[in-house]
Amino acid sequence: MDVTVKIRNLSVWYGQQKALETVSITVPKGSVYAILGPSGCGKSTLLRTVNKLILLRDGAKVEGNVEVFGVDVYNSNSLSDEVLAKVGMVFQTPNPFPHLSIYDNVAIGPKLRGQAKGKELDKLVRWALEKSGLWDEVKDRLSRPASELSGGQQQRLCIARALAIKPSLLLMDEPTANLDPLNAAKIEELIKELSGEITIMLVTHDADQARRLASSGALLFLGKVVCEGPIDSIINGSYCDLLQNLVSEHLTTQTSKTKSKEIKKRG
Ligand SMILES: Nc1ncnc2c1ncn2[C@@H]1O[C@H](COP(=O)(O)OP(=O)(O)OP(=O)(O)O)[C@@H](O)[C@H]1O
Ligand SMILES: [Mg+2]
Repeated sequence: MDVTVKIRNLSVWYGQQKALETVSITVPKGSVYAILGPSGCGKSTLLRTVNKLILLRDGAKVEGNVEVFGVDVYNSNSLSDEVLAKVGMVFQTPNPFPHLSIYDNVAIGPKLRGQAKGKELDKLVRWALEKSGLWDEVKDRLSRPASELSGGQQQRLCIARALAIKPSLLLMDEPTANLDPLNAAKIEELIKELSGEITIMLVTHDADQARRLASSGALLFLGKVVCEGPIDSIINGSYCDLLQNLVSEHLTTQTSKTKSKEIKKRG
């Protein structure tokens, strides 16, 4: 099996707080790989470690091995820049450059990398905006600032920005969470269309979406991988049950810990 991302024994801390613990996952090339789990379990952190954005966080510490396209990105700086240039990211909260125009938000990546200019760049910007389903809504105001767009439009602009660099690996953090059903469906179509051609790591809270789009994935809980494998093995009827069991088990443990502390205090 060709592999795009191989992570072994990855642990991540924000200061004293451990956000991921000995995570190991394997993302097959050309697949859509779903990352599932409850809020705060470390899904966004996991994506951030793949493209090293985690290093921008104050006090963040990374241990373990992260290979992207066969390059150990935390231990080979010269190669890692080259490899990470092929990685695009769509963030959980839309983060366009507000002072830049709609056009420049999409063009900035290819411009900075010297991938295209002039008419070529115009074509690329249009292609990316069409793919993200935004073209018709913005084609007459490409020079207006991105800040004038609605939240959902900003999200689709960020998807276009990520596509414009023609990534080989796309990290998508809940890309449809801010979208209405019609636009969410368009983005799902796009993900289907891109899969096979490129690899997509998709964070989603929506088990049905994972089933529709992904071939494999991982379920995280409290920073650990609880199960990994074909998407059906994770979701098939058992995803919600499994999650509920984990949460109630965790709550029971927490309650008994608190109770025993109280007894000790009293005692
Ligand atoms: N910059 C930071 N500093 C300190 N702790 C952080 C930071 N970013 C995230 N965390 C903590 O790390 C843990 C994992 O956060 P993360 O954002 O990866 O979760 P998530 O699974 O993406 O959650 P959600 O589904 O709500 O987006 C959480 O406990 C969070 O509070
Ligand atoms: Mg998140």
